[in-house]
Amino acid sequence: MTVDSIHILLIEDNLAEARLLQEFLKEGSFKEFSLVHVKRLSEALDAIGDDICAPCLYDLILLDLTLPDSQGLESLKPLITRAPCLPIVVLTNTNDEQLAIEAVRKGAQDYLVKRQINPQLLIRSLRYAIERKQVLETLRALNESLKNRVEERTAELIKAREVNQFKSEFVSILSHDIRNPLNAILLSAGLLKSSDDQLTPDKKVAHYQMIRSAIKNMSLLLDEASFIGQADSGKLNCELIEIDLIGFCHAIVDEIQLTAAQKNIDIVFNIKGNHINILGDEKLLHHILTNLLGNAVKYSLSNSKVIFDLIFQSQAVILRIQDSGIGIPIQEQKQLFQPFHRASNVGKIPGTGLGLAIVKKSVEAHGGEIYVQSQEGIGSTFTVTLPLLKS
Ligand SMILES: Nc1ncnc2c1ncn2[C@@H]1O[C@H](COP(=O)(O)OP(=O)(O)O)[C@@H](O)[C@H]1O
Ligand SMILES: [Mg+2]
Repeated sequence: MTVDSIHILLIEDNLAEARLLQEFLKEGSFKEFSLVHVKRLSEALDAIGDDICAPCLYDLILLDLTLPDSQGLESLKPLITRAPCLPIVVLTNTNDEQLAIEAVRKGAQDYLVKRQINPQLLIRSLRYAIERKQVLETLRALNESLKNRVEERTAELIKAREVNQFKSEFVSILSHDIRNPLNAILLSAGLLKSSDDQLTPDKKVAHYQMIRSAIKNMSLLLDEASFIGQADSGKLNCELIEIDLIGFCHAIVDEIQLTAAQKNIDIVFNIKGNHINILGDEKLLHHILTNLLGNAVKYSLSNSKVIFDLIFQSQAVILRIQDSGIGIPIQEQKQLFQPFHRASNVGKIPGTGLGLAIVKKSVEAHGGEIYVQSQEGIGSTFTVTLPLLKS
């Protein structure tokens, strides 16, 4: 739009006034103008339409403040709501100037006192109203974009602060967890050196075994921590290949069954649905299954069963691992997927608290979901849903 060609919506119930304004507009210096005249507010609202996103048919509203279906300032609000970008110039009688000033405060761009209007004054007021509204709109848009940028930046800063806090907690817990096995190694190595001649061969073997197992624990902890670090910095590699999931699961069940046998725990493996090869990352799937099956065995009492259901559906594959072990207190279930969180009922059962965090990251890398249902003292069921990815 240029200010030389404008489309005006005139809302005026008095025909003589309307005609006079039209005359003034013709005499004025607009190269082109069009005017739609309505006598009621309701007709004006119809003329504007109710789609506030649609491009506006008009450049300006000339509004008489005394209409048959709306009095005074009441007319402003519905018009501004319906067409927030349209400038409004109000028309008042000589004794209504106070009301006109109030209208400007409430969102009109200007006012004209009817008896004082002449063509120059009218044109100047209309041009001024349109330009002022354009400036206001530009400012409003700028303000909005600044507000959005401030919000985005604040969210980024909060996230960065959380990540920093998480990193320092992570490092301090990790150092603490490494110190324990290190102390055990130092102690055993010290004893082996200083009291070598007093130690029986059996005691020596026990100390060597202690050192080996402390080193194994440390090495596992470091591997797990480095996995979480990689995942958090977005460097988790997810290489999808076609996998025969049944064969893959059988191999892992056999592997875990060896540990389970020491507690006389039986892993029952059921396959349901129509078997198809899936696309997945072998390493990540291995993490998922060894951790979930390993936990089920570790947190179960001797002489029990762990049930592993592998369910093929049309859009997804479900891995469900169910045990009747110690269970997890309900209020602690959500946090267990965060690194280092262990439930309060684990007692002396060893662990790093990193396994489920690794499982969750591995599941998410496949676009899947994991949830837990558990009751303390009764048992737990972990359910992983992986979408069937297409090659
Ligand atoms: N099958 C389960 N039964 C009972 N508790 C479980 C089970 N699996 C996980 N948990 C709880 O979740 C915590 C986190 O598990 P995980 O991350 O694998 O760490 P970890 O086993 O090394 O402690 C465990 O410490 C335990 O409290
Ligand atoms: Mg574990």
